[in-house]
Amino acid sequence: MSQPRRKHDSLECLHQDMEQAHLIPTWKYVSEFVAASPRVSYQPFLWKWQTVYEHLRRAGELITPARGAERRSMEHVNPDLRAQYTTSHTLATALQLVKAGERAPSHRHQAAAIRFVVQSHGGQVFTRVQGEPLLMEEHDLLLTPLGMWHDHVNDTPHDIIWLDALDYPLVNLLQCSYFEPGEAGHETPAKEAGYTAKRMGHVRPLGWHAYPEEVPVMRYPWRDTCAALDALRHEPGSPFDGVIVEYINPVTSGPTLPTMSCRAQLLRPGEWCRSQRSTSSKIYYVMRGTGQSIIDGQQFDWEKGDVFVVPNWAWHEHRNPGREDCLLFSVTDQPVMEVLGMYRQEGLRDDGHQRVTGVFQP
Ligand SMILES: [Fe+2]
Repeated sequence: MSQPRRKHDSLECLHQDMEQAHLIPTWKYVSEFVAASPRVSYQPFLWKWQTVYEHLRRAGELITPARGAERRSMEHVNPDLRAQYTTSHTLATALQLVKAGERAPSHRHQAAAIRFVVQSHGGQVFTRVQGEPLLMEEHDLLLTPLGMWHDHVNDTPHDIIWLDALDYPLVNLLQCSYFEPGEAGHETPAKEAGYTAKRMGHVRPLGWHAYPEEVPVMRYPWRDTCAALDALRHEPGSPFDGVIVEYINPVTSGPTLPTMSCRAQLLRPGEWCRSQRSTSSKIYYVMRGTGQSIIDGQQFDWEKGDVFVVPNWAWHEHRNPGREDCLLFSVTDQPVMEVLGMYRQEGLRDDGHQRVTGVFQP
């Protein structure tokens, strides 16, 4: 119903009447929804390995992965994103423990996932994805693309720990989540170990029926990634990242998954990278070594096993001050930003390094 015409109208009256009609004046609020530069709602943060490991060890005594509990994992919840249970605004990581002899039940969901193996003694410990067992040796990367059935099986006498990264914050923002429990990994026909690897190399089956999945069910063995980094160690590398490689989708030559790009990077002894920022967020896991990252002026000291998050548009630079290699694994939402045409990256001018204004205390 239209408002009765006021005898003496005013802008204030108009605003009041618009509020009643669930309208807001763009001229009054535009700066709140069109920011001049990225408005980021969270800070960088770092989780120490020893702290998380101690909690995970206790959970090992108290929790058993089963239907309902699903997984014994601990989310890295950024204090500024507590309500969303996430690490960055688009990504969530967690450390997961599967004890000797355990199985975590089968399920599938809209969120895509990657696993990066933190501790493994090898043997028959695997994640089964769409019926294919992917072995989990230390520092291997495994993919669970969206909608694919997956369960975890540890048929060894040793516990295993890995890093999970999921895009569920993005899925939840888009309000399209689903979750479906399965039945002991028998939802899809069983495939032999190495099924995908045999079909995704530099030579591929000619004239065979097509590969059955939309996105390859990949396992990237660490020995291959490590060899690639080592082969590149005498190249100049990136001024911002040292020697860095991306885990590629072998079908598209594009990023690891449509929503996530995974990288491994080598910081050589004494390497001090230049500072950069971009419109993508990144989460790092320290594979080896002791070093520092300066994030928006704050110094984050890290060592093996630590996890830290770099928010989008935060200046960040990495440094290896020691005499040994540092190895970092990271995951970023950059593919999302690129496909939307929203990816921007820039380097810091002048000497390329930030002024340190504080040291992060976990
Ligand atoms: Fe899952």
